[in-house]
Amino acid sequence: MTKLKKGTEIELVVENLSFGGKGLARIDGFVIFIDRTIPGQRVLVRITRKKASYAEARVVELLQDSPKAIAPRCMHFGTCGGCLWQNLPYNEQLEVKRNLVWECLAHIGGLSNDIVLPALPSPEVYYYRNKMEYSFGARRWLLPEELELSHLEKPRDFALGLHIKGFYGRVLDIEECHLQSPSSVSILKQVRQFALTSELPPYNTHDHTGFWRFLVVRDSKHTGQILVELITAPHRSSSSLIRQLSTLLQAEIPDISTLVHGISAKKAQIAIADTQEVVFGPGYIEKYLGDFRFRISSGAFFQTNSTAARILLDQVSESCGLTGSEVVWDLYSGTGTMAIGLAKAARKVIGFELVQDAVSDAQANAGLNGVDNCEFILGDLKDLLRNSSAFANSHGSPHVVVTDPPRAGMHPSVVKKLLTLEPPKIVYVSCNPATLARDLKMLMEKYRLLRVQPVDLFPHTPHVEAVAVLEKR
Ligand SMILES: C[S@@+](CC[C@H](N)C(=O)[O-])C[C@H]1O[C@@H](n2cnc3c(N)ncnc32)[C@H](O)[C@@H]1O
Repeated sequence: MTKLKKGTEIELVVENLSFGGKGLARIDGFVIFIDRTIPGQRVLVRITRKKASYAEARVVELLQDSPKAIAPRCMHFGTCGGCLWQNLPYNEQLEVKRNLVWECLAHIGGLSNDIVLPALPSPEVYYYRNKMEYSFGARRWLLPEELELSHLEKPRDFALGLHIKGFYGRVLDIEECHLQSPSSVSILKQVRQFALTSELPPYNTHDHTGFWRFLVVRDSKHTGQILVELITAPHRSSSSLIRQLSTLLQAEIPDISTLVHGISAKKAQIAIADTQEVVFGPGYIEKYLGDFRFRISSGAFFQTNSTAARILLDQVSESCGLTGSEVVWDLYSGTGTMAIGLAKAARKVIGFELVQDAVSDAQANAGLNGVDNCEFILGDLKDLLRNSSAFANSHGSPHVVVTDPPRAGMHPSVVKKLLTLEPPKIVYVSCNPATLARDLKMLMEKYRLLRVQPVDLFPHTPHVEAVAVLEKR
């Protein structure tokens, strides 16, 4: 075998796609992960990292495209890290996602391959996102053709768009995006122009100076409402600047129904404000999942792909198999999507959620949907369940637990509590097959895994959602 080390250039044929979205090739069984490739491509790559059991590489030249490859829609494809698989036909993406879920679960051992069902497709493959988070950046990502130029049309030290994965602090100025509504892109352009000509600079992630930090746009195709949140660093002129921007946005894009100004002094690059002020409108928008109506505030979680989330909710309902007499616990309940979707078939549903805005929204959403048997409890699940038996005695022991944690999965102490509480059924909704596999491994001490249904909420990206159904042994 060629002796591989960092910097080695080598020709490879991509065999498969791996967890995280990279192409996978092998030399004599040794695995090499290659950024931004799809199966069937023959590529000249440079090794960027060499470990004992694998290497990482990036493409120097595409020598021959995959017979499966299709033309990507977006001008930013290949630069923006949002859509890695726009050049792979959608049915292939679904197959890859199903297999990725299986590969993660296979490590648990003792499972048969057909426990993971074929992935259910998203009804919309483009323009499916109802939320987009853009970052301001003080270092714009320069396109290859710009590197040659002495005079640039756009400044180097300002960008509003998406972070380039692996290049900390670099932001790609987004001009088009096929995952979100056209009005979201129009808002992006208006805000970019305003911020660029304002007296304050974008936030610099290196020295933590600067003002403009994030633009978050949420919209609803069904209600036509749009929520815009601008997150900035604290500054004495912030209110007057945001008021000027508000006047401009209302004049240029009258569909915006509400504008929120969030202030964040955090060093971490996360689009969560420390404090918020509603500049105009109600501070939330309303969305539909099938016939259910939900109010969503700027800081609260809502599934990003509404039409596919309806399929997910149907899968959860079917998996719970409720008859009207059950107590259901909905762990990580967000704005109440699952709890409210299940309430009419249950005796009672109790939601547990960390974020205050989400709990307030969930309570309002129960009312909006004529549901009066849901209770939402605020707090960190690992604390809320510390005395789970006492809680179960006073609130009712769960017959079914639905759990839908963030990517990190459930805290081990929460999994242990479930093993003590022993609900007859657990329906685990996961957005990360790796942490799903880790948690299932623990749960299978007392539970039998009946099936895992992947659902695609994020076409063209390596993300996949899955519903795992567990029954007490
Ligand atoms: C993937 S979302 C699921 C939301 C909801 N099930 C839905 O379908 O809309 C995960 C939720 O868990 C909440 N969360 C994160 N960590 C938590 C914790 N330690 N305790 C309770 N809730 C938490 C987040 O705020 C978020 O609303």
